[in-house]
Amino acid sequence: MRANLKGTFISFEGIDGAGKSTHIEGLAKAFSGKGYKVTLTREPGGTSLSEKLRTLILNDAMDALTESLLVFAARRDHVERVIRPALARGEVVLCDRFTDATFAYQGAGRGFDLQTLSTLEVWVQSQAEQGLQSDLLQPDLTYWFDLAPALAAERLAGARVPDKFESQPVAFFEAVRTGYAARAVADAKRFARIEANQSKEAVFADVIALAKVRGYL
Ligand code: TMP
Repeated sequence: MRANLKGTFISFEGIDGAGKSTHIEGLAKAFSGKGYKVTLTREPGGTSLSEKLRTLILNDAMDALTESLLVFAARRDHVERVIRPALARGEVVLCDRFTDATFAYQGAGRGFDLQTLSTLEVWVQSQAEQGLQSDLLQPDLTYWFDLAPALAAERLAGARVPDKFESQPVAFFEAVRTGYAARAVADAKRFARIEANQSKEAVFADVIALAKVRGYL
């Protein structure tokens, strides 16, 4: 399945305000320091086309199917142009959000049909034209920064002008968190839950320790 993709694919997930982004750069430095070549990227985004789609997704009102199709369109371009080539070169790809975010936000948060999302996931993340489950590209490791939505809202308050998702009520993020929890249960080997209700230093120590325990760093 990943025979020609020698690299390591790591994604970072969590509700808005959980604090994941500050740790991605730190982990990138840790990998670079050990001599790995690192591709640091994000979703929605990571290519010129996908960054344009990101602006639409984060700012324009749309129904949940349109939103799901746009995040998967952005993902397709990103996977084909950036992620697969970097993995083929043997690099460490650190991606700020990936498909678990779609299941959490569009699925659990917006209530969109999970089976349809699973179909799109296979189409977009496999190279076969009609999608092939056995060829599905998934991260090797997913950090889930877990924080109670009420605490995340406190952290976000006043930080910057909120986008379409950040301005959702706490109840929406309760649902998104449930979505992440379900994905974590379904793929326990891939997921690593990080307790985000700690100091930045303690969270980062957990991030590094986990990468070492899993044998990636
Ligand atoms: P960010 O602020 O962490 O960069 O994430 C952008 C926003 O996009 C965040 O609120 C989550 C949302 N999002 C989705 O709704 N679905 C997705 O598939 C992805 C990748 C992000």
